Amino acid sequence: MLERLRQVAAARRELDELGIDPFGIPIERVYAPTEGQVNGRRTILAGTNNYLGLTFDPECLAAARDALEREGTGTTGSRMANGTYPGHLALEREFAEFYGRRYAIVFSTGYQANLGVLGTLAAPGEVALIDADSHASIYDGCRLGGADIIRFRHNSAEDLEKRLRRLGERARGALVVVEGLYSMLGDRAPLTDIAEVKRRHGAYLAVDEAHSLGVFGEQGRGVSEEAGVEADVDFVVGTFSKSLGATGGFCVSDRKELSLLRYASRPYIFTAAPSPSVVASTRVALRSIRERPGLRARLWSNARRLYAALQEMGYRLGPEPSPVIAVVLESKTQALDTWRGLLERGVYVNLMLPPATPNGVSLLRCSMSAAHTPEQIDAISKAFAEIREAAPA
Ligand SMILES: Cc1ncc(COP(=O)(O)O)c(C=O)c1O
Repeated sequence: MLERLRQVAAARRELDELGIDPFGIPIERVYAPTEGQVNGRRTILAGTNNYLGLTFDPECLAAARDALEREGTGTTGSRMANGTYPGHLALEREFAEFYGRRYAIVFSTGYQANLGVLGTLAAPGEVALIDADSHASIYDGCRLGGADIIRFRHNSAEDLEKRLRRLGERARGALVVVEGLYSMLGDRAPLTDIAEVKRRHGAYLAVDEAHSLGVFGEQGRGVSEEAGVEADVDFVVGTFSKSLGATGGFCVSDRKELSLLRYASRPYIFTAAPSPSVVASTRVALRSIRERPGLRARLWSNARRLYAALQEMGYRLGPEPSPVIAVVLESKTQALDTWRGLLERGVYVNLMLPPATPNGVSLLRCSMSAAHTPEQIDAISKAFAEIREAAPA
C-alpha cells in the first residue's frame, strides 16, 4: 500500500536535490496581493490567481471583518443542515443575477463545484466529452459520476464534432465540458465553434470559467460572454479562488434541475458550507467585477506589457496575450534553473512540469494582477532578461 507513496518519493528525488521545494514553497509573509516574503526576501508575487488583486481590497476586508464579528469564524455544518446563512442565499441570488440566469448554487470550493455538478450530471450510462487539457476537477467530477468519458483534442471543435458524430444517437443529451481560459498556456476555448457543434448535436455544454470570470467579457462574465454564446452554455461553473480573492465555487444555469443538486450531490451535502467572512468578501468582490471595469483594464494592460516584453526577449510564450503568460522552456532543468533564478531576483512565478502540463512541456506560469504596478512588471521583465542574457537559449 505504501509502495505507491514511495514511487512519489522517487519521482521527487531530482527536485529534492535543489534544496528548495518548488511545489511547497511557503510565502512567509504576505504584504499585499502582489508582494510577499519568500526565502527571507521581499518578492513580487507573479504566480497567484489574484487577477483583480482583491485579496486586500478595503471593502472586501471590511465586509469579511463585519461577517466574522456577526456570524463567527465558521459555519460548522453542511449547507443541507446548519450551514445555510442569509449570506449564502444572497450570494446565490447575486451570482444568478450577475450571469442573468435563473438558478445558482454555491459550493465550498471550485474543485467541489465541478465534482458536485459533473458528478451528478455525468451519471452512469451518460457520455461526457471533455477537452484533453481539462483541469483535474473536471476529470474527477466525470469519474465520480461514472459516465463514459471521451477526451477530445485540446481546443479542437473539429475533433469534438467527429467524436459526437461517432456516438450516433447517444450524442443527443451528451455533456460537453470545456474551460473558458486554460490555466497552463493561457489560451481561450474556441467557444463559438464549440457552441455551434454542441447545438447541432443536441448536446449540453458546461463551461468552467474559473480563470476567466472577471477577466473576459464586457461585464466580466468570462469567455462565453466575450464570444457571445452564453445562450448555448447550459451550465457555468466557477470559483471564488481567483478573481474573487476567496475560497469557494459556484454553478449557474437556467435549468431548474440545478436546484435538485442540493439533494443529490455528495460534494455539496457532505462538507461544511463556506465561512461567513468568505461569503461576505465574495459578495463585495462580485459587485466589484460589475462596478469597477477599471480593474479589468489594468489587468489587461499589465498582461500585454509583460507578454510584449518577454516576446521581445525571444522567450517562447503561450499562443496569445492573457493574464496567464506561459513561458515554455526547453527542458525540465532549464525550467527549474529559470524558476530559481527568478526567485533569487525577487520574483515568484509558478513552475509547471510534466505530467501536470499539456504535451509534456516544462513551463513557467506568470499570472498577472490588476494590482501589479508598472514598476513591478518592469522588474519581472528585467529578471527574465538577466537570466536570458546569462544563459541564452
Ligand atoms: C479550471 C479550474 N477549475 C476548477 C478549479 C478549482 O478551483 P478551487 O481552487 O476553487 O478549488 C481550478 C483551480 O485551479 C481550475 O483551474
